[in-house]
Amino acid sequence: TTKSGLTFDIQPSDQRRTPQERAALLDNPGFGNVFTDHMVTIRYTEGKGWYDARVEPYAPLSFDPASANLHYAQEIFEGLKAYRHPDGTIACFRPEANAARMNRSARRMAMPELDEELFTGAIEALLGQDADWVPSQEDSSLYLRPFMFATDVGLGVNHPSRSYMFVLIASPSGPYFSGGIKPVSVWLSEDYTRAAPGGTGEAKFAGNYAASFVAQAQALEQGCDQVVWLDGVEHRWVEEMGGMNLFFVFGSGDGARLRTPALTGTLLPGVTRDSLLTLAPEFGIPVEEGRISTDEWRSAAESGELTEVFACGTAAVITPVGYVKSSHGEFRIGDGTPGPVTMRLREELVGIQYGSRPDTHGWIRDM
Ligand code: COI
Repeated sequence: TTKSGLTFDIQPSDQRRTPQERAALLDNPGFGNVFTDHMVTIRYTEGKGWYDARVEPYAPLSFDPASANLHYAQEIFEGLKAYRHPDGTIACFRPEANAARMNRSARRMAMPELDEELFTGAIEALLGQDADWVPSQEDSSLYLRPFMFATDVGLGVNHPSRSYMFVLIASPSGPYFSGGIKPVSVWLSEDYTRAAPGGTGEAKFAGNYAASFVAQAQALEQGCDQVVWLDGVEHRWVEEMGGMNLFFVFGSGDGARLRTPALTGTLLPGVTRDSLLTLAPEFGIPVEEGRISTDEWRSAAESGELTEVFACGTAAVITPVGYVKSSHGEFRIGDGTPGPVTMRLREELVGIQYGSRPDTHGWIRDM
């Protein structure tokens, strides 16, 4: 029973994979390819609230072809990780921040909110069955994917769905970008925008990702790893990289300072981003939430004032950006290798998450 009073009905799988099968899958899982033996499902109906919470065998879901989610995309999701600590216990990093963000996404998409206790209770319930799937190799973790979608049947669009399903699945994962910490190259997208004022950019809404693939494909065509999004009005203010937030390092040594694009309503408010806003000043690195134009990015990189750029998110943690390309030309950041500020922040954050450094902010939640 969770604190919110909901009891999870546990239906253990009779097709659990053997320890040998699991070990083989955990050996080199990649990112988001392998799933554990169970999933959590919870139902919602207007007037009744959340009910029928279960931990059940991981299996396909089936829908009526006229289900609202398949037509009008009321679907939001979250991403967080469970880490194996040195003493063998399992911990999550700031799960309440993900629960709160899911509710902000829900409000934007006219979907129901979910008690924080139910959100974290679902994680605890799933780990109750699948704890053995939390990897212990370095840089590996159990990526948790909570999501919610509309289940009303019917094609009307005069009101949002009145019924929903919340699902939690879990995927043992290695690093998001394979091949170690190597800087990515980015393409500044001028043809496509990710978000506009008043739109859905701030929500972790599936459609934002659907709209991104064509721009990501263009970045690849340009020989770059990732797309960088600019603001939708002037097309000159830097917003995000792919599905991650960006940080810019100006100066170096004791003079290093950070700037990250402010949350103007069109950016995804990353939990990693938020954590770095707290951590960096503790190392004497001031952080400013502001804005940076593509012109400033280029001129500061060329003058050497801009020394490092990195992207951050739950999946890829902190990833250096080494090279920038747009229709106006291309340039490098620093010498194109991971910079000291990037690596220092990464080490500290990862240390807290994996339990090798003290958690002085109350971010770690034992599961
Ligand atoms: C992130 O964790 O940074 C993400 O946005 C998840 C990604 C796989 C969609």
